[in-house]
Amino acid sequence: MLDSDMGPDTKKQLLDRIGSREAVVGIIGQGYVGLPLALTFAEAGFWVVGFDLDEAKVASLNRGESHIKHVGADRVAKAVAERRFSASPDFSRLRDCDAILICVPTPLGRHREPNMSFVHGTTRTIRGYLRPGQLVVLESTTYPGTTDEEIKAILEESGLTTPEDFFLAFSPEREDPGNASFSTASIPKLVGGVNPESTELAAALYAGPIAQVVAVSSSRVAEAAKLLENIYRAVNIALVNELKMTFDRMGIDIWEVIEAAKTKPFGFEAFYPGPGLGGHCIPLDPFYLSWKAAEYGLWTRFIELAGEINTRMPSYVVSRLERALAEEGRTLTGAKVLVLGLSYKANVDDDRESPSYEIIELLQERGAQVAYCDPHIPAMHAVRKHDLGLRSVPLTPEEFAKYDALVLSTAHEAFRDPALYQGVRLLCDTRAAIEPPKGCRYFRA
Ligand SMILES: NC(=O)c1ccc[n+]([C@@H]2O[C@H](COP(=O)([O-])OP(=O)(O)OC[C@H]3O[C@@H](n4cnc5c(N)ncnc54)[C@H](O)[C@@H]3O)[C@@H](O)[C@H]2O)c1
Repeated sequence: MLDSDMGPDTKKQLLDRIGSREAVVGIIGQGYVGLPLALTFAEAGFWVVGFDLDEAKVASLNRGESHIKHVGADRVAKAVAERRFSASPDFSRLRDCDAILICVPTPLGRHREPNMSFVHGTTRTIRGYLRPGQLVVLESTTYPGTTDEEIKAILEESGLTTPEDFFLAFSPEREDPGNASFSTASIPKLVGGVNPESTELAAALYAGPIAQVVAVSSSRVAEAAKLLENIYRAVNIALVNELKMTFDRMGIDIWEVIEAAKTKPFGFEAFYPGPGLGGHCIPLDPFYLSWKAAEYGLWTRFIELAGEINTRMPSYVVSRLERALAEEGRTLTGAKVLVLGLSYKANVDDDRESPSYEIIELLQERGAQVAYCDPHIPAMHAVRKHDLGLRSVPLTPEEFAKYDALVLSTAHEAFRDPALYQGVRLLCDTRAAIEPPKGCRYFRA
């Protein structure tokens, strides 16, 4: 659609195009969030362009392949074959889009400060192609105020304003990779616009493919709600991690305690301890709020405390292993240790911020010879803080029997086979993922 096609009632025209599924949806960033979202819109009958800077990703998507294991290539191939979806590195095609959804990374810098370069860079690109009648929605997790202060200011440098010319909202992504019970389409979607017109349009757009849309009064409420969801998890995981260490000293198994507490039918939700936080969200997002709160002279003490406890977990696991070896008169120096699982959660191939890297590095620092096994990640690549260059060893009982100790760090289904542990001497299970194997010294940490 060209500028000249837009009349004065831009909102009504856009609503009509959304209602009739004529609207073209551009989704910037074809990663863990952007690709499933693009396919969900395509499957609901919209025309979708998936933008990405990574030309290899673009080419493979256009061949009908998926670069994300749990997003089926059959879905990509079908959407491409039906011409509902195409990927592109050519951002001039943003002009053809009625709605532009931003799904680029929001990582942390080296000093735990928000790295907004992807969001700001993408917004400046959109500004170059912005035309009347477009709806722009930020989906990347961020601190309150990003959409109505920063994104709005950059887009309005174009000379266009909202709500007169374009519309702008925030709608947080709640993707849970690998969760078989919930898909992009079935997870309720929050939307909050920078003005009521924008909220209405964003709600109308998402109502197409998504079962339930929840409109809130502003983009700030939507931004804050996403942070609350992630901070809630970070704090509760820190709580059970602290209790794990406390109960362990008392000879009590925290996992059994949680199962017992879970029988209360109200007022309790189970969270589970582990070797530390991983993934793009829970370890990072809470610090977006701490950073912003500092601007108001406020300290977010729960977030800091949770961060401190959760980041200590890999070192706790290593010290528990050290203690177990010491009980047999051995040390970590020279010990052969196999870490099971490199991804941050079970059955996915996502290793971002995975505590396994930290565990491997700490073991190496103490002089252990470390290998890893992960059927989902055959070889390590450089990640934010680590570049260890290892390859996965085979998932076989013969391989497992070669090590002095094993540390189960990720609860992959593939690790549940008891036959794997026949020749294993010492196993530290950080996820309570398996039954104690026969003939093996087993402990949870
Ligand atoms: N992964 C999750 O489970 C999850 C869940 C909820 C929210 N989020 C949030 O969603 C956002 C995206 O996360 P993700 O996991 O999809 O990241 P990702 O790294 O998987 O994907 C981001 C994609 O954006 C592309 N990209 C980067 N800069 C770009 C640019 N300027 N223009 C076009 N493409 C660009 C990258 O090549 C990559 O393909 C983050 O803010 C994250 O916090 C992620």
